[in-house]
Amino acid sequence: MEIKLELTKNPKEKPASENLAFGNFFSDHMFIMDYEEGKGWHDARIIPYGSISYEPAIMVFHYGQAIFEGLKAYKKDSEVVLFRPDENFKRLNNSCDALCIPRIDESFAVEALKKLIDIDRDWVPDAPGTSLYIRPFIIATEPHIGVHPSNKYHFIIITGPVGAYYKEGLNPVKIFVESHYVRAVKGGLGEAKASANYAASLKAQQMAAKNGYTQVLWLDGIERKYVEEVGTMNVFFVIGDEVVTPALNGSILPGITRKSCLELLRSWGLNVSERRISIQEIYDAAENGQLKEAFGTGTAAVISPIGELCWNDKKLTLSGGKIGELSQKLYDNITGIQYGILPDQFNWIVKV
Ligand code: COI
Repeated sequence: MEIKLELTKNPKEKPASENLAFGNFFSDHMFIMDYEEGKGWHDARIIPYGSISYEPAIMVFHYGQAIFEGLKAYKKDSEVVLFRPDENFKRLNNSCDALCIPRIDESFAVEALKKLIDIDRDWVPDAPGTSLYIRPFIIATEPHIGVHPSNKYHFIIITGPVGAYYKEGLNPVKIFVESHYVRAVKGGLGEAKASANYAASLKAQQMAAKNGYTQVLWLDGIERKYVEEVGTMNVFFVIGDEVVTPALNGSILPGITRKSCLELLRSWGLNVSERRISIQEIYDAAENGQLKEAFGTGTAAVISPIGELCWNDKKLTLSGGKIGELSQKLYDNITGIQYGILPDQFNWIVKV
């Protein structure tokens, strides 16, 4: 499919890298493509970033048929690269299936993204720890009030320069283990990157933040016993010589950073398991001196060491509140590959 181009006549001023934080600035252009039943996906275009007007009746406003992705572009010595974009569009299609949204052509999406990033290449920051965050999303745009899958959609990609997601950067974060609210249950939308999952997380997140915690660790929705994931990350624990992360069970987001960490850890010959792990097991391991460290993994968060857990008022300090050895090694390796400092031994990098 041809991608029509309409370039901005008013390029914006770019923010200074020290002011970036996360999610506040948007590049000059965006990609957009329409879907209509009978016509399929059509009218792909790159246009200036800006407001879009919709009728108040469009279905996403009422029934939440919305999914998204998150990935990043990195710059080193004026070369711009993407990290495993094919994985993001594969997962977007899985989310499409979960929410009755028509699938997109994954290789077309990668090409469209490369074109968008190429046009806004100057928006990719190059200061250490910065990148261009990329947010592809699909929303239901049929103006209709009955509950059924929409017959119209927009697939949009916006981008913007970012620094660290957490104000802590690579410093350990404090995590509240949530025993009351749940994020998702098996058979629901947990493994899709549905906007609804993030709406469902807000209440607990707000309460945790009020008590000084950066994120919530979700337990399973049935027994509130087994660890699932942290707000915007998957989670790993080092217990004795085992590196363990909860197995993908239908209610956990299959993170691309999670998958990449598993591949790296296995390539280092470590004893890695994807299995069910209870919060009690983690507390027991801490008591026996077996819990070495814990960390979260995610596109926005990269690798985020966990310095403290609080479960039913029981507080646990991990790695003496410092960055664990494995967290640091994974961070150095993942970012080393992303920024072109280390060889791309797994072929994860796609040049723009
Ligand atoms: C990401 O890590 O890219 C995410 O999508 C998490 C987020 C909601 C910021």
